[in-house]
Amino acid sequence: MSKWFSFFNSKQKVVEKTRLENVPNHIAIIMDGNGRWASKKGLPRIAGHKEGMTVVQKIVRAAVKHEVKILTLYAFSTENWKRPKPEVDFLMKLPKEFSHIYLPEMIENNVKIDTIGEFDKLPNHTKDAINHAKEKTKNNDGLLLNFALNYGSRYEIMRAIKHVALDLDNGKMNIENLNEEVFSNYLYTNKMQDPDLLIRTSGEQRLSNFLLWQLAYAEFWFTDVLWPDFNEEIFEQALFDYQSRKRRYGGI
Ligand code: FPP
Repeated sequence: MSKWFSFFNSKQKVVEKTRLENVPNHIAIIMDGNGRWASKKGLPRIAGHKEGMTVVQKIVRAAVKHEVKILTLYAFSTENWKRPKPEVDFLMKLPKEFSHIYLPEMIENNVKIDTIGEFDKLPNHTKDAINHAKEKTKNNDGLLLNFALNYGSRYEIMRAIKHVALDLDNGKMNIENLNEEVFSNYLYTNKMQDPDLLIRTSGEQRLSNFLLWQLAYAEFWFTDVLWPDFNEEIFEQALFDYQSRKRRYGGI
């Protein structure tokens, strides 16, 4: 552990002001541990989500600096509706608050904002805030900041199967033409390239119904750090670790 720490620390000094090479094109993050962070401090769970929002911006800045192409953040799962209503209501207001504070910086940094998930079922005020951010950033071609909101991967796959079945039925597609690439286009992620690296915070090591199809060949990186304590240095540790991985995609 200490060996790795000194390795990371010495490397971090080198890259403090510079961009890293060979960064993953697409990074997906399960931002976990907001509630535990708040409980440890004797605060309500929503304080953890609020702090978590500020960390989103820090990591967006780091991703822009290292020229990551896509950052997909798991912000609200289809299972999160089971949480107490005040917590859900708070989470649904975060996109507006995020936009209010950070949208000018996003625009300046050439960040394009998008979402994956069942968008139509979000509250109107949430949709309005997100649509505004999407509209204001639609011509940007830097980092694609992709929020997974009301997202569930099994639902996404099932929904794609239904659309494929419809297209087969109405003659828009021939069964011989169905392959993995074509099927991918029916997912929310559509033509987006698959994540190269998945990061999950808070010590949990599971996928929680996140990007099950898309993460087939991704490298996984876990940390015990709770999301509100996550920062650029830890993000860079994940990037260093990714650089040392040998991706074989089933080959040798
Ligand atoms: C999981 O931690 C986190 C969430 C369900 C919400 C994540 C949302 C943010 C970090 C803010 C997103 C910002 C925008 C702009 C949408 P948890 O609550 O499950 O933590 P716990 O496991 O410790 O209880």
